[in-house]
Amino acid sequence: MLGRISVGLSALLCLQASVSVSFAAPVDLVKRNPYTFVLKNPYAATVFELGDVSYLANTKHPKAVLGADCEFSAASSAIPITVIKTNTSTISKQTLEGIVTSYLEADDVFSQDFLDGVYVSSSVKAELDASAVEFLASLNTSFLLVDESVSSGNSKLSKISVKATSDLVAGPYLASIGSGSVSFSTVYRLYPDTYRTFLFGAYDANDGEDNYSPLGVFLPKFWDPMIPVPSRIYFWDDERPLAGERVAIKDLYDLKGLQTSGGSQAWARITPIANGTAPSIQQILDLGGVVVGKQKLAQFASGANPWEWQDEHYPFNPRGDGWLTCSASSSGGGCSIAAYDWLDYAIGSDTGSSMRRPAAVSGIYGQRPSQGAISLDHVLPLGAATDTAGVFSRDPYKWVKFSKAWYTPSLHQTSTTTGLSPLSFPDTKDFPKTILYPVEYLPLNNSAAEPILQDFIANMSRIFNMTIKEFNFTATVQNWTDPVASDLLTLIGATGVINSWTAWTVIAKPLLTAWAALFGGRFPPIDPARRAGWISFNESMYNADTYAEALVTKNRGVEWYEDKLQYSTPESCSESVMLYDIGTGGLPSFREQILNESPDASYLAVLPETAKITGANICPIFGCADFTVPIGQVPYQSNVTFHEEMVPVTINMVVKRGCDFMLYNMIEKLADEGVLKTVKTGRTAF
Ligand SMILES: *[C@@H]1O[C@H](CO)[C@@H](O)[C@H](O)[C@H]1NC(C)=O
Ligand SMILES: *[C@@H]1O[C@H](CO)[C@@H](O)[C@H](O)[C@H]1NC(C)=O
Ligand SMILES: *[C@@H]1O[C@H](CO)[C@@H](O)[C@H](O)[C@H]1NC(C)=O
Ligand SMILES: *[C@@H]1O[C@H](CO)[C@@H](O)[C@H](O)[C@H]1NC(C)=O
Ligand SMILES: *[C@@H]1O[C@H](CO)[C@@H](O)[C@H](O)[C@H]1NC(C)=O
Ligand SMILES: *[C@@H]1O[C@H](CO)[C@@H](O)[C@H](O)[C@H]1NC(C)=O
Ligand SMILES: *[C@@H]1O[C@H](CO)[C@@H](O)[C@H](O)[C@H]1NC(C)=O
Ligand SMILES: *[C@@H]1O[C@H](CO)[C@@H](O)[C@H](O)[C@H]1NC(C)=O
Ligand SMILES: *[C@@H]1O[C@H](CO)[C@@H](O)[C@H](O)[C@H]1NC(C)=O
Ligand SMILES: *[C@@H]1O[C@H](CO)[C@@H](O)[C@H](O)[C@H]1NC(C)=O
Repeated sequence: MLGRISVGLSALLCLQASVSVSFAAPVDLVKRNPYTFVLKNPYAATVFELGDVSYLANTKHPKAVLGADCEFSAASSAIPITVIKTNTSTISKQTLEGIVTSYLEADDVFSQDFLDGVYVSSSVKAELDASAVEFLASLNTSFLLVDESVSSGNSKLSKISVKATSDLVAGPYLASIGSGSVSFSTVYRLYPDTYRTFLFGAYDANDGEDNYSPLGVFLPKFWDPMIPVPSRIYFWDDERPLAGERVAIKDLYDLKGLQTSGGSQAWARITPIANGTAPSIQQILDLGGVVVGKQKLAQFASGANPWEWQDEHYPFNPRGDGWLTCSASSSGGGCSIAAYDWLDYAIGSDTGSSMRRPAAVSGIYGQRPSQGAISLDHVLPLGAATDTAGVFSRDPYKWVKFSKAWYTPSLHQTSTTTGLSPLSFPDTKDFPKTILYPVEYLPLNNSAAEPILQDFIANMSRIFNMTIKEFNFTATVQNWTDPVASDLLTLIGATGVINSWTAWTVIAKPLLTAWAALFGGRFPPIDPARRAGWISFNESMYNADTYAEALVTKNRGVEWYEDKLQYSTPESCSESVMLYDIGTGGLPSFREQILNESPDASYLAVLPETAKITGANICPIFGCADFTVPIGQVPYQSNVTFHEEMVPVTINMVVKRGCDFMLYNMIEKLADEGVLKTVKTGRTAF
């Protein structure tokens, strides 16, 4: 039914159309679901349903409020409405139908239920012809608003004088029509986090102060937090590299308006809501990315096993039997990217393996960039000179696009933080000539997985004309003449000092002190991964002086590495790319400890028999770039589903510090050649 209203809008005309036409629905439209109010959240946004889909509308701070000078009597505080923008002078049924169809095809937030109201504008003087009016009638559109650029042959159209707005981009909104004004609130579809990878959803408060608001809504039937994602249509004309990309954030990073917990309720208890946004996250927002929530992590970015999580409930991995580990510490991020098509990226951090291993067990892309790649201000630290920030993705091209835009030179860390030489990231195609195959770390443990790696190596060697060289990493380093740089245990010891001291000064000491003062001298409730180290922390061993010495030791190791092992030549940014596996070599590893005791399963972070350090330790020690990429999958017989399941196979690619962009260019080339692929969400990656 048309013609319920007579509304005047800023930059709008009110159409009081009492057209009543009987039409066969042209697009495949079934009866529209009505607006159903659910609740106001504590931040005064509105949760509502259209049929069985839940939405959030930011009614506290609408996207646009347009003044109107026509009176409106019927109560219409909440109208699902579709904003349509055209460039054409004749708006016909065909125009509208084409636009509605494109919205339905390309967006998971928009649905026909938003056609209760329609607002049409055009960049040129335009006429809404009779077929268009009839088309809207066939959709039972109740509210038709037209911009002053748009006229109609319909005599019932009354023109209202109003101001134009450019704020209001196309897409679905929740409109509220009051006396003399109409407001348009941004809408978000609410997805249940069925794998429980998030702590909470969040959305842009649009309050003019750059705050984000937590959503705090969950699905009681399955205990899932609800995650708000905005319409992709809002960003169709936004040229920024990450416009409209949905990004989840590990809860170590500050985002203004949200609590940063580090996965600890005790920490949340003693710290205020973040009053600023980490520069690394601000960069994502500036590039057009949309933050959709904060995610779970092993508490304070520890390497805790799934069964050691106490404060948070461990997230679920969609791969295989659904009982596989998500690893640590960026566990929520890795598993969410393997799980949800509605999520584009997740931000994590890597100190000891925390991006690379979650990527491996989830069968997705994830990296530890070169040491110093991006500012970690406003991020809870583990070790200031060993921490790095990374991003998870399913798609190699999207992953490269994000990474190149994100790791911008202005955000590189200085030598004061890293203790290393200044960083530069040449965007070069000076590819490596050698594939290094370290014999202590390879072949893959599951003999069914190694052929997948051998195919990958053969393809890479062919595509880049590279020579494959087997070598013993441990023996090579131990053979260096420098007594410090050649001593892997000294180097890993320095890494240990770096990791302990920063977290102690920034997190542990303030937490222990505040908790003792609040609760009669008690130690805070924290997960076992940190309790033992912090109760017996020895400041004679770990202090500012030993930290400074550790930075010198680290730098010495890095200099030798870049001179003797992975170095630049006139032809190559990094003469070699080294391969190893940070995962389980194609064996399943489970969230339930006892299942890992089987010979057909594996724990994580197993030190290979003849190595001195795990492969994961190499780049934290030597500053290099280390990327996890998915290359295949192998079957296993599950003792959880009692059915054959697939576990992902991944490989790690390591290049000299600073050659990250060269490695991205290699990855794009491997994707062009069909060697690397976009992985699927769900039970299997391929
Ligand atoms: C429009 O209303 C008619 C009558 O209530 C109904 O049969 C039809 O399904 C509706 N169409 C849409 C698109 O909602
Ligand atoms: C209208 O033109 C502008 C500018 O060329 C363009 O950005 C926009 O995508 C066009 N919109 C439609 C609906 O074609
Ligand atoms: C944020 O909070 C910190 C500590 O509470 C304070 O020192 C700082 O001035 C605040 N910054 C802003 C921008 O309010
Ligand atoms: C990779 O190499 C194997 C042989 O080693 C070959 O069968 C396969 O087609 C190659 N894949 C691609 C995408 O080139
Ligand atoms: C491949 O590399 C070898 C050296 O390893 C070189 O002799 C040869 O010319 C290269 N082939 C091509 C096609 O570049
Ligand atoms: C690698 O070298 C180390 C040190 O010489 C040696 O102990 C180890 O057995 C070697 N590993 C392999 C697989 O050759
Ligand atoms: C150790 O160094 C010597 C002398 O440079 C060299 O001949 C030998 O090949 C090296 N061994 C390894 C395992 O790198
Ligand atoms: C702390 O470290 C110092 C220096 O290594 C050592 O002498 C001392 O015994 C340690 N204290 C404790 C309580 O372990
Ligand atoms: C499943 O259990 C059987 C019997 O205990 C065992 O032999 C097998 O290795 C287990 N499978 C896995 C993948 O752990
Ligand atoms: C392979 O598995 C065995 C048994 O769990 C383990 O001892 C060995 O270190 C593993 N090798 C690698 C490279 O992870």
